[in-house]
Amino acid sequence: MTAPRAGSGAMFDAIAGRYDLLNRVLSGGLDRRWRQNLVHALGLAAGARVLDLATGTGDVAIAIAKAHPDARVVGLDPSARMLEVARRKVDAAGLADRVSLVEGAAEQLPLPDASFEAITMAFGIRNVPDRPRALAEAVRVLRPRGVLAILELGEPREGVLGAIGRLHVHGLVPRLGALLSGAREYRYLADSIARFPRPDQFTAFLLEAGLRDVHVEAQTLGACHLYVGRRP
Ligand SMILES: C[S@@+](CC[C@H](N)C(=O)[O-])C[C@H]1O[C@@H](n2cnc3c(N)ncnc32)[C@H](O)[C@@H]1O
Repeated sequence: MTAPRAGSGAMFDAIAGRYDLLNRVLSGGLDRRWRQNLVHALGLAAGARVLDLATGTGDVAIAIAKAHPDARVVGLDPSARMLEVARRKVDAAGLADRVSLVEGAAEQLPLPDASFEAITMAFGIRNVPDRPRALAEAVRVLRPRGVLAILELGEPREGVLGAIGRLHVHGLVPRLGALLSGAREYRYLADSIARFPRPDQFTAFLLEAGLRDVHVEAQTLGACHLYVGRRP
């Protein structure tokens, strides 16, 4: 049997049961704060409809539904196993009436045009092979003036902090990840973080996709970036 493509839903199927624990350990718990910042950046009005792309085990979808008691959230992901974990968490939080989960890929959304006030994607765009297509799909399903907010890991580049960040990404993450999960998956994590475009380059992609008012905010010394833009 050939191994699934790195970053694909099939690869995440294999680590779904350990994903939440790995996240907490590898980010030192910072992932929670980053997701909260993402939710705040949306500035949602009452009754908003929100799409969480690459929802995985559902943390962002759940955080939005908790922060906005009348919001309706759709979480989408190609990994059936990650969605199973998300389903259990959504049910346990009593949010099943407002959070629905859909199997699918960001490049081909099974959703109508202009149907969401906001779209989120946390640590997902790195895994999408055809990013321009995924961004075009996000713009298509956003309502005019709707907001797109993306969180993504990056490699801190400059100075002593950059060196520490790189040591974390290339030394600690693959080793700890291998210990707790599959070595291949966490080597991929380190490599894909290093390969992800710099913040100014990714901002340019968002503008090319047709988004406006794009801004980027470094989180925790550039270990992660929050990108926010609007459909005109
Ligand atoms: C690192 S996890 C992020 C999960 C979640 N957003 C979070 O904050 O923890 C990346 C997710 O991207 C999903 N993914 C992979 N390829 C994708 C695609 N083409 N479209 C949408 N999601 C994809 C994976 O299945 C996985 O659940």
